[in-house]
Amino acid sequence: MKYFLILLVLAQVITLQSQTYSLPSLKYQYTDYEPDIDALTMQIHHSKHHKAYIDNLNKAIAGTKMETTSLIDLMLYASFRSDAVRNNSGGHYNHTLFWEILAPKDKQTTSINADFETAVKSQFGSLDSLKKLINQAGATRFGSGWAWLIVTPDKKLMVTSTGNQDNPIMDVAKDRGIPILGIDVWEHAYYLKYQNKRADYLAGIWNLVDWGIVSEKYKAALTDSLLITIEKDSWPALKDFHKVMSQTFHPAETGDFKPLRTRSNEFLAKALLLKNSTPPVSLNKPAIQAAMDKLVKESAEIQKAVQKNAKDETLKKLITQAHDTFHVIQGLCKEE
Ligand SMILES: [Fe+2]
Repeated sequence: MKYFLILLVLAQVITLQSQTYSLPSLKYQYTDYEPDIDALTMQIHHSKHHKAYIDNLNKAIAGTKMETTSLIDLMLYASFRSDAVRNNSGGHYNHTLFWEILAPKDKQTTSINADFETAVKSQFGSLDSLKKLINQAGATRFGSGWAWLIVTPDKKLMVTSTGNQDNPIMDVAKDRGIPILGIDVWEHAYYLKYQNKRADYLAGIWNLVDWGIVSEKYKAALTDSLLITIEKDSWPALKDFHKVMSQTFHPAETGDFKPLRTRSNEFLAKALLLKNSTPPVSLNKPAIQAAMDKLVKESAEIQKAVQKNAKDETLKKLITQAHDTFHVIQGLCKEE
């Protein structure tokens, strides 16, 4: 009986931790976005396209550790994810943001915040110039994708674009930061009304963008710890080491030491490159430097053990140590 109760509690904890995503409701009716976006487009876009991203995301993470990974973490390490997780986590996040920043003109109750307006003016000259840049980013995005206004780790605004359902939170993006405004330039967002005229859709969309909401997102992004995470993640040598660690440690965890035995030279080389690289400013600390020194030492021990054809259990001990040290530098490896 006692064991049954323990199992029951454990099952409940697991159920509570695992998550499935669901379609957020729109704040307005599908017809409220007319004439700039027609009701049928809104309905199909929201209830079919967005829903499909959610259903496919739930399917892709079902039964994996990713059920307990946050949506942000799924996207942050997109380069380590399957195409299904990358595309559908982005699809869900991007559309959720899109619905949030759109409001029919007569229902936009908030106005642009003074701090945001000042930042726009100092960086772009005016709101109109900013709109022009975003339209340019959307119009020149080949194929399907998104145009963005983001806050970068140095707390500046930046206009950028990504393909498919990628976004600037992802490690695969060229320009990274927190999106505060995203414009969907997939044909499914405009084709019924505008056909091939993407520029006309981009001109009309500004009637629906609620700058008060964008201002709030700007304010929140400035103090969001995600900016620091993105900055840390923009350390190429760390990412390179993370890859070789991930691809050798995780097989070793399940008893497969072949990747580690064949890549121990590369493991050490990447650890040395990491130690000799320049960390982002926020990570340039003695504790991190010390951990990197330790990592190089431990990687050299692994290489030596492999050369001596050491037993699996010895290698397991050594790579576990190195993995722990890597976590001291950054906890990137924990869900892969
Ligand atoms: Fe879309």
